[in-house]
Amino acid sequence: CGIVGYVGDKQASKIIIEGLKRLEYRGYDSAGIAVINGQLSIKKGKGKVASLEKMIGSGEKGSIGIGHTRWATHGEPNDINSHPHTIESGKLAIVHNGIIENYNTLKKKLSEQGYTFYSQTDTEVVAKLIESFLEKDASSLKKAVQLALHQVHGTYGIAVLHSDFPNQIVVARKGSPLLLGVGDGEMLIASDASAVAAYTDKVVYLDDGEIAVITKDNYTVESADHIELSKEVHELTLSLEEIEKGGYDHFMLKEIFEQPKAISDCLRGRIDPDKGTVTLGGIDSIMDKLVNANRIIIAACGTSWHSGLVGEYLFEYLAKVPVEVEYASEFRYKEQLIGEGDVMIVISQSGETADTLAALRAAKERGALVIGVVNVVGSTIARETDAGVYIHAGPEIGVASTKAFTAQVTVLTMMAIKLGLSKNAITIKEAKKLISELAKIPQKIEEILQNTSEIERISNLFSYAPNFLYLGRSYSFPVALEGALKLKEISYIHAEGYPAAEMKHGPIALIDEMMPVVVIAATHHTNDKMISNIEEVRARKGRIIAITTPKNDEVGDLAEFSSIIPETMDVFSPLLSVIPLQLLSYYIAVNRGCNVDQPRNLAKSVTVE
Ligand code: G6P
Repeated sequence: CGIVGYVGDKQASKIIIEGLKRLEYRGYDSAGIAVINGQLSIKKGKGKVASLEKMIGSGEKGSIGIGHTRWATHGEPNDINSHPHTIESGKLAIVHNGIIENYNTLKKKLSEQGYTFYSQTDTEVVAKLIESFLEKDASSLKKAVQLALHQVHGTYGIAVLHSDFPNQIVVARKGSPLLLGVGDGEMLIASDASAVAAYTDKVVYLDDGEIAVITKDNYTVESADHIELSKEVHELTLSLEEIEKGGYDHFMLKEIFEQPKAISDCLRGRIDPDKGTVTLGGIDSIMDKLVNANRIIIAACGTSWHSGLVGEYLFEYLAKVPVEVEYASEFRYKEQLIGEGDVMIVISQSGETADTLAALRAAKERGALVIGVVNVVGSTIARETDAGVYIHAGPEIGVASTKAFTAQVTVLTMMAIKLGLSKNAITIKEAKKLISELAKIPQKIEEILQNTSEIERISNLFSYAPNFLYLGRSYSFPVALEGALKLKEISYIHAEGYPAAEMKHGPIALIDEMMPVVVIAATHHTNDKMISNIEEVRARKGRIIAITTPKNDEVGDLAEFSSIIPETMDVFSPLLSVIPLQLLSYYIAVNRGCNVDQPRNLAKSVTVE
């Protein structure tokens, strides 16, 4: 979640909206704003900051205000639960990040005193608690906030606005970041420096227990025991872009390293390892149709098409349903033998890819049910599908897709397990085992990311190779395609991915001592066959770079170079084996001086045919 506030001479709503947009990567299922222009006015609702912006239009004058963007982790994102929260008189607005642990006790007490609650949030309790203190003593908003916070257990970053105190914002922090942006005749507050950096490079970071009051020209900070503090003013030396990159050299690298979090976010609240269940609210209503589907057709483009290929293996193995994976662009112009009883799954990071959208529309027109697996909330594809599951990977800015791929595969895995259970293709016992292992994937990716030195060394050795071949079998075949695509996209080295056994029907002619061959030997059921393929490459002096596991030690022994990834079940192996390949392409591209985040000729979202 993100918090932004402004007091000065400018139109507060504009600055707050802009700041919220910069924080949107932290959460984007609802947004809201409160400003004072004589009276206090609140606009909020479910949806992205852009919808809030539309709701406000050019209205909402006033030069003091606070705003919030929320990403619900539990509890439904809806209009009532969105921030800011208020009180009966409508005079107070509060935005809050964090969790108030004793909110039930406080709520009960306040209800007995006659306060009514409209939302399910803990934040509304704090609003009413502050009001209760103001009713006893209306001389200071800061004092009322302080007294309220004394009764609160938990974590918070809060900002409070009150129309009886129309020139100030009161903020407080405990366990959830907040900073003040010190401007010239204006002051800002935010939960992250990127929201204020466009206006000032001077910031004051609040520490836990501190409370601050900001006005247009001034700020005061007090410690928990009411001592006024003189806080150090820090200078922001990073550019806006650098702040957003979170200290990484490129967005792509940041996004690669964000994968443990992206997958945790994707799994959160959706799997229960103890019960062996998967909950995907977005497809509940169509589960019957999915269970009875004759077949599933997956349509997508680029990297999303590769996750679709992983999905084919997953659905066929776990749910015993036939799957076809189509390039959306090809599906459009073929004989479209699709109709009622068929289910199409469209996969798209951006939710705007023109070919994928056209495939979706064609399938719908012929009576098929269409399910979306999309990252960007509220995008066209997300809106036009009959049902869907968001991947919740957060914004992906690097053109070469990384965390969207692993999060897409995570969603497809959950869907396949859910469908497998519904069709009795797997037992609860099997599901428990699968789900317990799936829950460990973020930690295993973290392990890979903690030691990248070997991949960096391999990258340095092969940065100037003119060609690369990537080989894999079964679940590792789509990973081979994805590894080759990543290298092509950002380093401009020609690379091909192949099913390992197909190598002997053509690509083997290319192999000589100059040819790096990346072998993805991360599954176990095909390991013996992979070893034969490795021997075939070795016999022709190809340079083998293996992505393999401790148990596949024979592969490690045969390969010239290897990157060892943690063991997992074969079905989950793409989520791990793709990580070293993303890093390999990244380091090679950097060595070659390529523009990693914006490779030539490519676009993040392709809205043309
Ligand atoms: C573009 C991007 C790729 C992406 C593809 C599909 O070509 O450069 O990274 O995989 O579009 O995009 P989508 O947003 O539909 O997943």
